[in-house]
Amino acid sequence: MDISVKDQIEKIEVELFLEAIFRQYGFDYRNYAYESIRRRIWHSARETKATTISEYQGQVLYKPELMKILANNISITVTEMFRDPSFFESIRLNIVPRLKTQPIVRIWITGCSSGEEVYSLAILLHEEGLYERSRIYATDINEAVLQRAKKGTISILHMQQYTKNYLQAGGQREFSKYYKVDGEHVILEPFLKENITFAQHNLATDQSFNEFHVIICRNVLIYFNQHLKNRVFQLFYESLSEGGILGLGSQETIISSKVFSDLDYSNKIYIKD
Ligand SMILES: C[S@@+](CC[C@H](N)C(=O)[O-])C[C@H]1O[C@@H](n2cnc3c(N)ncnc32)[C@H](O)[C@@H]1O
Repeated sequence: MDISVKDQIEKIEVELFLEAIFRQYGFDYRNYAYESIRRRIWHSARETKATTISEYQGQVLYKPELMKILANNISITVTEMFRDPSFFESIRLNIVPRLKTQPIVRIWITGCSSGEEVYSLAILLHEEGLYERSRIYATDINEAVLQRAKKGTISILHMQQYTKNYLQAGGQREFSKYYKVDGEHVILEPFLKENITFAQHNLATDQSFNEFHVIICRNVLIYFNQHLKNRVFQLFYESLSEGGILGLGSQETIISSKVFSDLDYSNKIYIKD
């Protein structure tokens, strides 16, 4: 069969598949970026020996346990503490001075995965004397990673890299002061959890739940198509206070926005006009 015809049929299969799992299970991946979601579906389909996505669709519809496996495979949860150190350095330099004028600071970190980004911000705010009056709402679609985030434990294997990131991000203390070693893990200092609320929230379907001074959503929008990105930008716009700050991932940009301006373009930090 001609490759372009095969691709065309496969696109129909992917779209029907996404519609089917939405209607049967409520998982809404219909507006995720096509190439990436296609690859993730195939990754799971191969495990069941399905030879087409239509065949895999039949299996997933009749076996809810396959839907769980698929949802896990679709969710890419890679994260780090102080990931892209210059982003956190910019928060210190450009955002903290603005936040210092607020009596209470409300921050939403969405797509927070297992919490490394959230605890990084908590440490930064603590060092800047802002954590006490900050409320961080950390959300993700994936319950399993949220459970890990709530624990506040991290594999010891990563700590060398995270220490490097912390120092590059302008960290001012001994990083090891923020955790205790417990076998193969480290347990983050409990005070870091005090002002964080972890909760499930789906950017594709859920609404806003507060007004925030800062929203951080990094390395999530790369998985969405333009339609869904637009929905999410609108949601962020409505959820930010006037002059609120939006931080995105290094590969994510707001193109030709009339409602946000660059605050630090190279670090993907924007301000609501
Ligand atoms: C690659 S991780 C990024 C983690 C962290 N923000 C960082 O940059 O290190 C992407 C996260 O987005 C979450 N995610 C994917 N789709 C989502 C959605 N529709 N709503 C909320 N979170 C979503 C995934 O579960 C995953 O934890």
